[in-house]
Amino acid sequence: MTGNISIIGGGNLGTAIGLGLIQHGGYKPENVFVTRRHPERMKKLREKGIQTGQDNILAIKDSEIIILAVQPTQLEKLLVEIRDYIPDKSIIVSVVSALSIDHIETIIGKGNDIIRAMPNVAISLGESITCLAVNGVKNESFRKVEKLFSRLGQTLVIDESLIAASTILGASGIAFFLRMIRAVSQGGIQLGFHAEEAQMIAAQTAKGAAGILIESGNHPEREIDKVTTPRGLTITGLNEMEHNGLSSSLIKGIITSYKEIENLKKQGK
Ligand SMILES: NC(=O)c1ccc[n+]([C@@H]2O[C@H](COP(=O)([O-])OP(=O)(O)OC[C@H]3O[C@@H](n4cnc5c(N)ncnc54)[C@H](OP(=O)(O)O)[C@@H]3O)[C@@H](O)[C@H]2O)c1
Repeated sequence: MTGNISIIGGGNLGTAIGLGLIQHGGYKPENVFVTRRHPERMKKLREKGIQTGQDNILAIKDSEIIILAVQPTQLEKLLVEIRDYIPDKSIIVSVVSALSIDHIETIIGKGNDIIRAMPNVAISLGESITCLAVNGVKNESFRKVEKLFSRLGQTLVIDESLIAASTILGASGIAFFLRMIRAVSQGGIQLGFHAEEAQMIAAQTAKGAAGILIESGNHPEREIDKVTTPRGLTITGLNEMEHNGLSSSLIKGIITSYKEIENLKKQGK
């Protein structure tokens, strides 16, 4: 990719995006500029040759794309700080879970294309699912951003009203699946594997299961049927998990996380 890109907010996600851009996005490190208030904490990015610093105005100066990756409560202040310095043709991409495109526009004005993106931290590996939303027509800027994120995993264009839901399913989803992998590993340890061995088996098995669904597009139950011999071990264990609320607890957790977003909104956070 050509053109400069800046990431304002080099925290967990900003760092993952920075690494993804140079490892999978076709960006040269010198074309990527990442800022945070404590720039000394971006050693990993610096070691890769990415420009890092504290000066947001300098970072966005020649940026074709500006990615906003601060916490929701930090975004308004940041927008006020940079609004007079955003280059005319820069595309603004907000990965912040709150603040609508309209809201961002009321702060910075109407001059720039604004796109919301909801990736997850697997973007550093080029394995994110990034949901994208735009307010209005999917123009040249949108296509550019879609192309960028599709180099870093899969993309899905959604209505902006679903961005909060995509935060839970795609972004928080990483934590949900990691916890499941940990639980499976712990079962493996009880069966006699060393922790590292159990984790390796669990993680690779999760990757394989996901790969089967992604490649086939089949419903999970169709693939489960291929593994569950009648009266066999797998169905016995699986049913025991369901009797203890496996699917139900996951669905309830997802709904509870989502409701928390609504609570935070009401509190103005
Ligand atoms: N983490 C995820 O998996 C994930 C996934 C999807 C979306 N998101 C969204 O992405 C955003 C960032 O999440 P995160 O987990 O990466 O949070 P984080 O680790 O707290 O990162 C936020 C970063 O923003 C920096 N920052 C704050 N104000 C700034 C300013 N005025 N100028 C420059 N940098 C500033 C902070 O710098 P200092 O720490 O140096 O003060 C911090 O490094 C959130 O809005 C979140 O909703 C996160």
